[in-house]
Amino acid sequence: MHIVILETASDIGSYAGDLILRGVAAGTLRTLGVATGSSPLSIYKSLEHRWTPALGALSAFALDEYVGLPPDHPESYSAVIRREVTGRLRLDPARVHVPQGNAPDLAAACRDFEDAITAAGGIDLQILGIGRNGHIGFNEPTSSLASRTRVKTLMSATRMDNSRFFADEQQVPRHCVTQGLGTILEAREVLLVAQGAAKAEAIARAVEGPVSSMCPASALQLHPRATVVIDEEAARQLTLRDYYRYVQENPVDGSGAQ
Ligand code: GLP
Repeated sequence: MHIVILETASDIGSYAGDLILRGVAAGTLRTLGVATGSSPLSIYKSLEHRWTPALGALSAFALDEYVGLPPDHPESYSAVIRREVTGRLRLDPARVHVPQGNAPDLAAACRDFEDAITAAGGIDLQILGIGRNGHIGFNEPTSSLASRTRVKTLMSATRMDNSRFFADEQQVPRHCVTQGLGTILEAREVLLVAQGAAKAEAIARAVEGPVSSMCPASALQLHPRATVVIDEEAARQLTLRDYYRYVQENPVDGSGAQ
């Protein structure tokens, strides 16, 4: 994994924004996997300020959605993606796909979502945040490393973390639809961003722990092109952080690539 430690959320947003704009300009990035949560917001803000028509032509696939929230609920992920991604990046809404959390047949809707990713030619770059329990998307601990888009039950710790977006914890749905770890691992490149001390343990387990479904983000160790961009606080429990900084200062080919 390529670990990049930066100072501020805005530095993280610019770094990730540069990576995305380079891929878009080179024609290698046509389909972007997008994530909700507060961590990736600085990426979308950075791209909003450096918008290009090629950026606006991207297709996008979201990671996850709550089950049972009306789509116009301001905290449904389809609403959040509309606000933070489709709006800021000026994407064509017809090319932005969010898993359906209200379909009468959720299993069929999950299969359709996977088929839509395949029809688009796969995801070129998947943006990810991380939960305190190491989840990516809504793949809670013990998710199969080979899982596909499916319905999951949220852990109470996740519902508590996400209750800040709702009137109270009772309002947070108990179920969700999420891309699987197998789906995420098929993206051609993955980029995980995290900030703050609350994420330090999850980051250490994801990057330096054993590959285990108990920390779903550790599955990214199996990906050949995974970059983790974090601030100092989120890096605090990494035992090799001096080495990562040293690598950052002494890149192999001068471009920062590993
Ligand atoms: C939710 C989302 C995840 C996200 C996580 C962390 O649970 N389903 O995709 O990574 O929140 O969010 P935040 O970045 O706000 O801490």
